[in-house]
Amino acid sequence: MKKNILLLCGGGGTEHEISLVSSKYIEKTLNDIGLYNVIKVEIGKDKIFRKLSFDNIQGEVVEMNFKRQLIGPKTEDIHLVVPCIHGPPGETGEIQTFFELIGLPYIGCGPEASINCFNKVTSKLWFNALEIPNTPFEFLASMEDKIRAHNFFDRYGKVFVKAASQGSSVGCFQVFSKKDLDNVLLEAFKYSSYVLIEKMVIARELEISTYEYEGKIIATIPGEINCPSKFYSYEEKYDPNSLTTTEIVAPNLPVEAVEKMRNYAIKAFTHLKLRHLSRIDFFYTDEKEIFLNEINTFPGMTPISMFPKMMEKNGHSFPKFFKDIVAKNIL
Ligand SMILES: Nc1ncnc2c1ncn2[C@@H]1O[C@H](COP(=O)(O)OP(=O)(O)O)[C@@H](O)[C@H]1O
Ligand SMILES: [Mg+2]
Repeated sequence: MKKNILLLCGGGGTEHEISLVSSKYIEKTLNDIGLYNVIKVEIGKDKIFRKLSFDNIQGEVVEMNFKRQLIGPKTEDIHLVVPCIHGPPGETGEIQTFFELIGLPYIGCGPEASINCFNKVTSKLWFNALEIPNTPFEFLASMEDKIRAHNFFDRYGKVFVKAASQGSSVGCFQVFSKKDLDNVLLEAFKYSSYVLIEKMVIARELEISTYEYEGKIIATIPGEINCPSKFYSYEEKYDPNSLTTTEIVAPNLPVEAVEKMRNYAIKAFTHLKLRHLSRIDFFYTDEKEIFLNEINTFPGMTPISMFPKMMEKNGHSFPKFFKDIVAKNIL
């Protein structure tokens, strides 16, 4: 009998739809392996789990129990989960905590690494502790701290304000004028209980696929996001009319800068205890400074996504990568 892989997608967050697109790519990869029975389930915005057919048509309601089973019209044992979810409850570590509790193996980072990377404040505290350069910042726990944000703005003149626990540029704002600052902070607090305020840099946006392959941690050479507005917003990311283009290999980067970034990516992967896969994003400024911007613990796998492409460009097959981690982890 073929073993069952539960492919989870959706999640109900701001990146719900993106996750459905990514899940098609993972589903195809798993089906091409041919060894497993893939059960695809969408976690809805209403938190209900529903089975999906291959064209993402919603089917019956199902439930997971504590015996590693999926309960619906029939009961199916689950041998491995692929939590193909961007944002909550996948990249936030919540769903992994449940899998740990019931002893069900899964692909990707554990709960602790996921939580640490998803919270933009926590991750910056880690980067500083690890001496990985990142943009200067302050963080606020409530509007009572706003004076710190005002002082920070006075120092830098142009800032980014970000809800701490969000992705896809939701809850992320550019601020050029101090009079807008309080409103933007209030807006960001609607999304998260912590808010980050960061120096705005003029920089190239680079991404590195960082993953485990044949027992080694690999960091690819960086790819590049060319976003004409210099703010890679939700629309720029996913609107079909977006003016943003990507390059699998960022052109004309000094070799030393590339090597530094790859080393920082591996240092972050190792010390934050990431597992299997991640995409680590950097800024490279006009002054040739390198800043680690963020770590994505379940990077996008849509047709425009860079993660699998950078891996392939690096000479590693994505299907083989996936086949290996599945074989190594399945019950
Ligand atoms: N400090 C900064 N300086 C300049 N641009 C920034 C800065 N922080 C973020 N951005 C822009 O905003 C985008 C979204 O920010 P990011 O921290 O990557 O959030 P998300 O997790 O939502 O992708 C980045 O891709 C970049 O275009
Ligand atoms: Mg980003």
